[in-house]
Amino acid sequence: MDELIDRARDALAEAYAPYSEYTVGAALRVADGSVYTGCNIENANYSNSLHAEEVAVSGAVSDGHREFTALAVTSGARDGVLPCGMCRQTLTEFCDPSFPVICDGESGPTEYTLGELLPDAISRETLGR
Ligand code: THU
Ligand code: ZN
Repeated sequence: MDELIDRARDALAEAYAPYSEYTVGAALRVADGSVYTGCNIENANYSNSLHAEEVAVSGAVSDGHREFTALAVTSGARDGVLPCGMCRQTLTEFCDPSFPVICDGESGPTEYTLGELLPDAISRETLGR
């Protein structure tokens, strides 16, 4: 778990956040034990900005991974950043409600489950697929 937080902190170094100056790093562990990292990538039109978690998920999925075991997320502000609603929904596509989400804050990590962060999510099951 500590290693995953370290990887998320490392990813902060590559964050591109000239507009908000709020850097975010994420590290996603997949079923074979490997880790995909991501950082936020902002855009001058603001709305095109990519979130650290979606960059990590897209790296993993485009390498063929579909099963994830944990996510760590951190910010340069070390304020215990939580994945936003959009990122929670993106994770729900691939993860069960028990999936651990570790948020790195000044006073140490706080672990949530995805189900706590996004109860009653839209999923393949709710669509009946
Ligand atoms: N951000 C993320 O990267 N992940 C989240 O889930 C929350 C927000 C980024 C987007 C933007 O670049 C900056 O944080 C400020 O909102
Ligand atoms: Zn997000």
